[in-house]
Amino acid sequence: MNFPSILESISDLNLGQVEYLLNSAKGFKYNPRKHPYYEVNQPVVATCFLEHSTRTRNSFVLAAEKLGAIYLNFDPATSSLKKGENLEETFLTLRSQGVDLCVIRTAVPGELHPFKNNPPFKIINGGDGMHQHPTQALLDLFTMIETGFKPKGNTMAIIGDCEHSRVCHSLIDLMTMVGCKIILCGPSGCLPRQTPHKNVELTSDVTYAINNSDLLYLLRIQKERHKKFGESNYFSDYPWSHGITMERLKKLEKNVPVYHPGPANIGIEIGACVFKNPTNKHELGYLGYEQVRHSLWMRMAIIMAMLERRI
Ligand code: CP
Repeated sequence: MNFPSILESISDLNLGQVEYLLNSAKGFKYNPRKHPYYEVNQPVVATCFLEHSTRTRNSFVLAAEKLGAIYLNFDPATSSLKKGENLEETFLTLRSQGVDLCVIRTAVPGELHPFKNNPPFKIINGGDGMHQHPTQALLDLFTMIETGFKPKGNTMAIIGDCEHSRVCHSLIDLMTMVGCKIILCGPSGCLPRQTPHKNVELTSDVTYAINNSDLLYLLRIQKERHKKFGESNYFSDYPWSHGITMERLKKLEKNVPVYHPGPANIGIEIGACVFKNPTNKHELGYLGYEQVRHSLWMRMAIIMAMLERRI
């Protein structure tokens, strides 16, 4: 049957074409295996990023595609969220479109929590405000192990804006679970008021932190979050007070790997010379690109594990 090249309005179709479409749609609904264009059992993985991202979103897209899933890019900026549709209705709509799993990033801490009791589909938190970024912590642990760091009994320093960092909160939960000790280091406004775990120590003394650690994990100073809290006076001093420069690292008697989840403020929390010294070995150098490389494999593992029990 010939169809118009442009379906602009119903008047482009005759009754025979309408009947053909009704029958064809019925075939897809009740007998999809017989249709040459229909792939059975391909899960649909979507991303819904309500906040910007380069690393997390792209690596989930690549992970989904490499696993053979159908990838759906739900773009909030061009979606009906802009017409006032709420998140729950959006998710129910995506579920009706066949989404099995959605990776969601939001600026609102805990925004995914209400969906836990009755999830519309599998949900992976791609970062929610200052709360959690679990897949970042998992890929970091994988990178550490793959590059020779043994978490159990060793110490990592997390240096930077610990209090406002979702990465830091997830790292504390995960790294203490695998027996790693943690030193949180930063200016007082960047640290929690009290230690969140018996194996987590707090200090503002960066020399103490790096001298007593086997691995440095640097965090971005999140100016956007400090403005809200009226603590913007740290930033001009930060490179000197807490920035990790090659000069600081060279004073150490041992080589320590330097991690950063990205994006980094080069020249603030990490010196340009450290940033430009990438390495894939357990030695002095920046491992940020190794974290990115390992993110793909860990996110493939996470998607596969979560889809094994399909909704
Ligand atoms: N580490 C991280 O979450 O980076 P993106 O914001 O680029 O995803």
